[in-house]
Amino acid sequence: MIRAAEPADAAQLAALHVAAWRRGCHDILPAAVLTGVTIDRRARDWTRWLASPRTSTYVCEYDGRLLGFTSVGALRANGRPSRSLLGVRMLYVDPDSWRIGIGRALHERTVRAAREGGFTQIVLWVLTRNQRARAFYAALGFEPDRTRHGTLGGHPVDETRYCLGSGSARARLAALVD
Ligand SMILES: CC(C)(COP(=O)(O)OP(=O)(O)OC[C@H]1O[C@@H](n2cnc3c(N)ncnc32)[C@H](O)[C@@H]1OP(=O)(O)O)[C@@H](O)C(=O)NCCC(=O)NCCS
Repeated sequence: MIRAAEPADAAQLAALHVAAWRRGCHDILPAAVLTGVTIDRRARDWTRWLASPRTSTYVCEYDGRLLGFTSVGALRANGRPSRSLLGVRMLYVDPDSWRIGIGRALHERTVRAAREGGFTQIVLWVLTRNQRARAFYAALGFEPDRTRHGTLGGHPVDETRYCLGSGSARARLAALVD
């Protein structure tokens, strides 16, 4: 079942988030960066994120357990929310349930949210070395359109932006700084 997240999901979301992040990035980020983010810290983050009106989170629940989540929200430019560009801030699936279609189901919920909100494109950033995620987004029809350098936990990283949507909206997208 895919449903909107509720405040009571914060603890389960935190545990799932940390587990999927560590497994997904174990060969990409140093161990110190991966272990530096604890479940307690993420539980506090999730309590805050779930209360934010700027993002919507959807979860996949099976038999009372959360198996995945995605958080989406309008991109912001010049302090204002975009009316055309929906950003995927996170999409994580329980590592024991990878490759059975949960990520795709969460993405389909995002597409529905985009349509309902009148957005014309869905955009997101992934670590360039995250080949699993890049294969996943390519399979869903996303295309890479720019790269950037940044840091994560003090560690330098390269990121690639992916977008999905109408070609006519791409020029507006390129002009945005998010
Ligand atoms: C990336 C992630 C969300 C994919 O979720 P998932 O539930 O395993 O994906 P799905 O089962 O819905 O896969 C859909 C399609 O994506 C592609 N895909 C998914 N995982 C893949 C992999 N490891 N290698 C190649 N293609 C892959 C396939 O085409 C797949 O369809 P198929 O299984 O019918 O061939 C999951 O691996 C994850 O949580 N990773 C860690 C967190 C992360 O990196 N998130 C993204 C950045 S925020």
